[in-house]
Amino acid sequence: MRFRIGLMNDMSMGALNDVASAQNTDGHAPEAKAPIVSATHNVETVLWVKHWTDQYFSFGITRPASFRFRSGEFVMIGLPGEAKEDGTQGKPILRAYSIASPSYAEELEFFSIKVADGPLTSRLQKIQPGDQILMAKKPVGTLVLDALLPGKRLFLLGTGTGLAPWLSVARDPDVYDAFEKVIVAHCVREVRDLAYREMFEHDLPNDELFGELAREQLAYLPTVTREPFTRQGRITDLIESGRLFADAGLSQIKFDPAEDRIMLCGSMAMIKDVAHMLEAQGMKEGSNSEPGDFVLERAFVG
Ligand code: A2P
Repeated sequence: MRFRIGLMNDMSMGALNDVASAQNTDGHAPEAKAPIVSATHNVETVLWVKHWTDQYFSFGITRPASFRFRSGEFVMIGLPGEAKEDGTQGKPILRAYSIASPSYAEELEFFSIKVADGPLTSRLQKIQPGDQILMAKKPVGTLVLDALLPGKRLFLLGTGTGLAPWLSVARDPDVYDAFEKVIVAHCVREVRDLAYREMFEHDLPNDELFGELAREQLAYLPTVTREPFTRQGRITDLIESGRLFADAGLSQIKFDPAEDRIMLCGSMAMIKDVAHMLEAQGMKEGSNSEPGDFVLERAFVG
């Protein structure tokens, strides 16, 4: 099994020393936030921030007119380095974030974890509308239809912020042309961690344009591991017990390599465990250059 997480971690860009936050180089807290300038990255404006819990938040930013992406791709985003005591500028901190908005949306949306001592998220969780952030000019990624062979059912399996790419993929009308059924399973520790539950359970089925597709072809299966809920257990447990399929209204009790395609995103342990299960059934990991039966990417951490 080839885990492509290297891609996500190794992309901390080298040529970023021309990124600067123009004002706070003297070590004093600026009165007003200085505009960010960058020759290598887009500088975008935060439009809104939604805090789900003390663990998770989402935010929207402006989308440059030239920025195109395929549903499920990720992009490096971040903040300029903080001013150091000697007056120099620290290196910018960028991390891979799955784009959570559909490809036709006017703005870009991201779903993030908050890590108290995380180099980026400790600061990013404090962003406010009007603030600026850095974004790479090009998105990349393997959680895309192009990396999968044709199939009948698409399973989008995610833990925690590993839901983010499914927010994009599951709102892409092309996905419903390509697959008869789309199953989103989101596994979290506690019920309150089920961010976007309202969107899946209420907004999408009632959406004027998207509602019919969602009602007929989309199944949303939230599951919780550390407190009582209508559906409990890890994604691996749901696969093994067959509940993943039964709750999606399917008659099968396990994956069918001929017809099922799977995307995985979230905790490394979950990805590894499910990938092993799929490989044991003879399914092959896909990539953009060589489409396969399943694709994976680790969710952003830290
Ligand atoms: P659990 O509560 O049993 O550890 P985290 O918050 O640590 O990112 O985890 C998100 C969810 O992923 C949790 O519900 C967690 O379950 C689940 N999880 C962790 N490891 C695995 C794994 N190896 N297989 C399936 N699910 C997992």
